[in-house]
Amino acid sequence: MAKQNKTESWEYAPSLEGTSHIQLKKKYDLFIDGKWVKPTSGKYFSSINPANEELLAEVAHANEADVDLAVKAARKAYNNVWSKMAPLERAKYIYRIARLMQERAREFAVIESLDAGKTIRESRDIDVPLACNHFFYYAGWADKLEYAFPNRKVESLGVAGQIIPWNFPLLMAAWKIAPALATGNTVVLKPAETTSLTALKLAEIIEESGLPAGVVNIVTGYGDTGAAIVNHPDVNKIAFTGSTAVGKIIQKAIAGTTKKSTLELGGKSANIIFDDAPIDQAVEGIVNGIFFNQGHVCCAGSRLFVQENIADKVIRKLKQRMESLYVGNPLDKNTDIGAINSKEQLETINKYIQIGKNEGAEIYQTKCDLPKKGYYCPPTIFTNVAQSNIIAQEEIFGPVLTIQTFRTVDEVIQKANNSPYGLAAGVWTDKGSRIFNLTTKLRAGVVWANTYNKFDPTSPFGGYKESGFGREGGLHGLNAYVKLN
Ligand code: NAI
Ligand code: MG
Repeated sequence: MAKQNKTESWEYAPSLEGTSHIQLKKKYDLFIDGKWVKPTSGKYFSSINPANEELLAEVAHANEADVDLAVKAARKAYNNVWSKMAPLERAKYIYRIARLMQERAREFAVIESLDAGKTIRESRDIDVPLACNHFFYYAGWADKLEYAFPNRKVESLGVAGQIIPWNFPLLMAAWKIAPALATGNTVVLKPAETTSLTALKLAEIIEESGLPAGVVNIVTGYGDTGAAIVNHPDVNKIAFTGSTAVGKIIQKAIAGTTKKSTLELGGKSANIIFDDAPIDQAVEGIVNGIFFNQGHVCCAGSRLFVQENIADKVIRKLKQRMESLYVGNPLDKNTDIGAINSKEQLETINKYIQIGKNEGAEIYQTKCDLPKKGYYCPPTIFTNVAQSNIIAQEEIFGPVLTIQTFRTVDEVIQKANNSPYGLAAGVWTDKGSRIFNLTTKLRAGVVWANTYNKFDPTSPFGGYKESGFGREGGLHGLNAYVKLN
């Protein structure tokens, strides 16, 4: 594994998670109407391991005709079975999916790390347990919708088309599928083209659970497959997580139709450190906020604001901490930063790093040997950043942090809100009153206090402005899949 040359940090012996227990087919077909069917075009694409560029499996590329079959299956299942089933019975299937996933948690974690490049520590401790919890949580709501919405008549929407990204592949599938099923809808889901495998493993579990055919259909493919779902006339709801650019395309495409939508888009979230904050914890929070999952996090704390009088100290400690981060093989349990998800994304990140240098910001990158094969980016920070710099305005979606300073509360609120995005924020201070003051004034869907990147199925998540609309998770997440009368 590639690791730091630094002598002051501990060096760990490699501790590789085994792959002998996982089962991957060479070729995956589409999961439509409870069966595995070949794509009508006969076309497949490769899913590779971004950590070493090796082929993992071939995956079917669904076209409009395949999407049409999936939507028809979902409609039939909705009309004939799922919308008529007693809610308590629906809940049993959702619980079963959660339990089956839990039983195979280790296999899911390894496949997620292989396919997405994320560290095994994260896929094992965060992605997979949270995905299971999401199914458990929404299974609990399925027969209690009258308590979720007192004095209202709750109706499902019909067929939900769901399109998800590559940063949390299984977790995003769970965020989308669990509330849709709990409220009585049926699903056509498309995973991202670089990370289809855990969604296909989930399809195997769904098959094993005995869920009636057609209730969940998984179609794999690229943007054209996603567009076919968005434009299909018999889809009632579009749930999308991904880039703001595609979010805008989707909004245009469904304008004037009766399709409902929720869009979870990008972010450029502010992490704010006041001078009374516990500095060492805050430094951990900064590291977790931007280097977690290689910075492939829509709510990453990618803009750091440090109060001026402690800036030198915080930056010194942050650099020290960065030097102890291991970059390398995602399957090594010691690795802190795994592989960038794709060659394209690495190019995007490197383009922004160059822009930052051209803009005159000061760069600091840790000096580690990166593996020769695969896509890697060392943890990177920029100081001397101006509010108007492109690197402080646009989403980079990589382990790249911009650092700015501030003197007063009003100044930092103004700077933090000066962004087209509004997904999340972090506030580090000893003062409770200051936390409450900031949570009401920061235009962000989630504000973490003295922590960062904490998720729980019971709490809603979603953004303001160009970060999208609608909430996922918690009671709020049910709203996106029901009609209230
Ligand atoms: P993307 O938005 O193109 O991909 C997300 C999903 O949308 C994928 O499943 C993709 O196949 C699908 N898609 C693409 N074009 C579509 C269309 N016209 N209609 C329907 N579905 C379509 O994101 P991409 O290109 O992978 O990443 C570009 C940038 O987007 C990243 O650098 C990052 O800044 C941002 N991003 C944000 C995410 C978030 O969680 N908010 C997740 C992924 C990317
Ligand atoms: Mg892959």
